[in-house]
Amino acid sequence: PVASAVEIGGVKIAREDVVKDDPTNNVPDSIFTKLGMQLHMRDQHPLGIIKNAIYDYFDTNYDNKFEKFDNLCPLVSTKANFDDVLVPADHVSRSYNDTYYIDSQTVLRCHTSAHQAELLRNGHTHFLVTGDVYRRDSIDATHYPVFHQMEGVRVFSPADWEASGLDPTTYAAEDLKKCLEGLAKHLFGSVEMRWIDTYFPFTNPSFELEIYFQDEWLEVLGCGVTEQEILKRSGKTDNVAWAFGLGLERLAMVLFGIPDIRLFWSSDERFTSQFSKGQLGIKFKPFSKYPPCYKDISFWINESFTENNLCELVRGIAGDLAEEVKLIDNFTNKKGMTSHCYRIAYRSMERSLTDEEINELQWKVRDQIQSKLKVDVR
Ligand code: PHE
Repeated sequence: PVASAVEIGGVKIAREDVVKDDPTNNVPDSIFTKLGMQLHMRDQHPLGIIKNAIYDYFDTNYDNKFEKFDNLCPLVSTKANFDDVLVPADHVSRSYNDTYYIDSQTVLRCHTSAHQAELLRNGHTHFLVTGDVYRRDSIDATHYPVFHQMEGVRVFSPADWEASGLDPTTYAAEDLKKCLEGLAKHLFGSVEMRWIDTYFPFTNPSFELEIYFQDEWLEVLGCGVTEQEILKRSGKTDNVAWAFGLGLERLAMVLFGIPDIRLFWSSDERFTSQFSKGQLGIKFKPFSKYPPCYKDISFWINESFTENNLCELVRGIAGDLAEEVKLIDNFTNKKGMTSHCYRIAYRSMERSLTDEEINELQWKVRDQIQSKLKVDVR
């Protein structure tokens, strides 16, 4: 049974206002139930511990100048989420395949950047925004449709860069990298990391910071020098600014050695009891790993098939028992029909699963793949 309403920062939000049987709405109950959980506001939770450690870094190094917002509502307008941060009209992140829409004008924010422009318009010049963000995505150990980000923005005045002899953009970019390298050092001590040049609609130049984890480079934050247009629209014509957005789960996975992103949502004491307020250094001790169970399913896809739709369907049935959904075979026959074979890994973080319950889940998946995604199971 799904609750009829949730509360976010004292405001009640009814299920009917978020989950609607309407083609402009693509929010399932499995997402509605995550609203208002506020994991980042729990001091004993790894996400809360990381948030507080980052706050400490900024308080200490910037003399408490950064204002903190961690209770802003995740239901935002498409204007705030996209237009205000200059996301082009044809950018993929605007698609129904990538973002949760409540209606054509309202989304579950897909990044904390959704709050940048309004806070700038309201005159804030140094701020951190922390919150849950929502993205339709694939299923594996580091991806989950709800995760947490922290946005940081700092605005400079001419007096800040004039003495440096650098042009304002270079000055801001150097300050930004120094700030984030200092933060990484504060959190990790030493860790292997690298900067990658990248593109974001709202910053130029733009960078990503990657950290080495479980044998791969993991992107943990995006950042850059704020596009002048954003500052101009907020009435700041003589300024430059930087901005960053970091993924709290990914930082926490590296920092605490948490192997799977689903664990953040676990209320199993064997997980929750391992963390305490203010304790950054602890390494998570996995309580026995239960065996996974793999099920393969093959079908002929159609034009409207997407992996995100499949993953959401699987998550809707199996919830957090779905550990990974992976394309293992893909071919097109002479008639031009394309077949996909997916391997679904089922595993609980908390207990052994029985064959019966897995078979039942897999039959439901099979059923709904045909009835909802309209593909032909082979
Ligand atoms: N919003 C970006 C993301 O979610 C991160 C980012 C924030 C990049 C601020 C640059 C500046 O990927």
